[in-house]
Amino acid sequence: MGSLFPLSLLLLLATAYWRSASVLGRPAKQEQSPKDNPPAPSRTSAPFWVRISPESVAVQPGGSVWFNCSSSCPLPQNSSLYTQLRRGKTFSGPAWVSYQLLDVRTWSSDVRCFVTCSGETRGATARITTYRAPHSVTMEPPVLENGKYTLRCHVTRVFPVGFLVVTLRCGLRAIYSESLERFTRLDPANVTLIHTFPAGPRDFGQPVTCLACLNLDGLVVCSSSAPITLTLAWSSASKALASTSSAALVGILLIVAAAYLRKRLVMWS
Ligand SMILES: *[C@@H]1O[C@H](CO)[C@@H](O)[C@H](O)[C@H]1NC(C)=O
Ligand SMILES: *[C@@H]1O[C@H](CO)[C@@H](O)[C@H](O)[C@H]1NC(C)=O
Ligand SMILES: *[C@@H]1O[C@H](CO)[C@@H](O)[C@H](O)[C@H]1NC(C)=O
Repeated sequence: MGSLFPLSLLLLLATAYWRSASVLGRPAKQEQSPKDNPPAPSRTSAPFWVRISPESVAVQPGGSVWFNCSSSCPLPQNSSLYTQLRRGKTFSGPAWVSYQLLDVRTWSSDVRCFVTCSGETRGATARITTYRAPHSVTMEPPVLENGKYTLRCHVTRVFPVGFLVVTLRCGLRAIYSESLERFTRLDPANVTLIHTFPAGPRDFGQPVTCLACLNLDGLVVCSSSAPITLTLAWSSASKALASTSSAALVGILLIVAAAYLRKRLVMWS
């Protein structure tokens, strides 16, 4: 049965990724180290607030970001930032401290700011996520075989792959969508989505596009391919429609630069 093919392909991919997944785990958990444990904030309520701004920010991998930690305390005793990330410059004013963080690479990382005022410590938390919108999203010309079309969409240099959703659209209709949440990589990757389907008469002349979207905790970053048109033989496609029920043949091919990945694994372990 043709429909078994994608499953075996995915299993192959899963095997290829087992190593990276088991060694690396979730980046956020991996980096815990005792020296970064923040002090427990005081439980009693104090008449001052602590704010960190922005509370949530997405940056490109390797990028830097600024956080401003401010409070309503007129005379803070101290103010500090707890993070796994590398620090850059710091500026401060009367009731605020501005911190720069460099070379952000973990997919998701919490940053905590603590201010002590009259012996009372309060904190605020911000979250940094990293992403890289696809460098390119392209579709190959459709291939008609045995009454079915095969569409191939290539998404290059996207990060994080686990938050990518690739959707194929024919006109306004979504014909296939795949979420790649199984894949945990710590560097941009190339992804190829392969979808085979029987096109009906309503599909001809319609533009087919491939939409690659990163869905990052509320932030959605999408890139679309240029449209291609399904223009091939009417008769064979109509026959295909009549003889095929629904089984769609789907495969995802994640192109792995094995040497690169190995280098990364060494760096991270
Ligand atoms: C940080 O925030 C405080 C309070 O909102 C503001 O007064 C100050 O100008 C900010 N500093 C920077 C560098 O943005
Ligand atoms: C701030 O200073 C107080 C008293 O000096 C100390 O107990 C507390 O741990 C400090 N807090 C931070 C976040 O460094
Ligand atoms: C991804 O594709 C781009 C463009 O085709 C290529 O330059 C790059 O080396 C590829 N990266 C990987 C990890 O395969």
